[in-house]
Amino acid sequence: MLPMNPAPNLVLVGPMGAGKTSIGKRLAQRLGLRFVDADHAIEQRTGASIPMIFDCEGETGFRQRERAVLQELLQAEGQLLATGGGAVLAAENRELLRQRGFVIWLQTDVASQLQRLARDRTRPLLQRPDREDVLRQMAETRAPLYAEVADFHFDTTGRSTAEACSALAHALAAHWQRGDDELPRDARA
Ligand code: S3P
Repeated sequence: MLPMNPAPNLVLVGPMGAGKTSIGKRLAQRLGLRFVDADHAIEQRTGASIPMIFDCEGETGFRQRERAVLQELLQAEGQLLATGGGAVLAAENRELLRQRGFVIWLQTDVASQLQRLARDRTRPLLQRPDREDVLRQMAETRAPLYAEVADFHFDTTGRSTAEACSALAHALAAHWQRGDDELPRDARA
């Protein structure tokens, strides 16, 4: 795929509101990759929205569907895949993401998440009054899991989608040109 990208796909992980979908779409266009959104694929395959899936099957049902979709999507190559914020919770997913993607962790702080998601009604885990606590708790639990899979970190805090996309594209190009990934995946810490 990309001249210097050592993996078959680019994968974005990170918390809700970090910009995985918005930055991902733009970055895919810039890099000539096919943009694929895991949550969107889950909705297409299920024929139901994410809130509806949570309503009918609970988080457990949603996570099963998420695992199946990631397995399916990551068989392909040349994609920029935006994952849902909880995709890293399953060890099986983390293994798969690492095997099949160069994984970028889009980071942001809770204040920015709250601001970006203020009017959002599509994230079932946030439809409660204590959003801030939920996001803080998630950040604490999930940060080590994002760190475990990530080849690259990028902080989107305070950046517009266009700015973040451009800065990330430059940072990636510089990273790959330095040859930081010339070791095979298994040989990297
Ligand atoms: C979730 C994040 C959502 C979606 C679902 C659960 C999570 O995706 O998969 O609502 O557990 O963090 P985004 O990160 O794209 O919002």
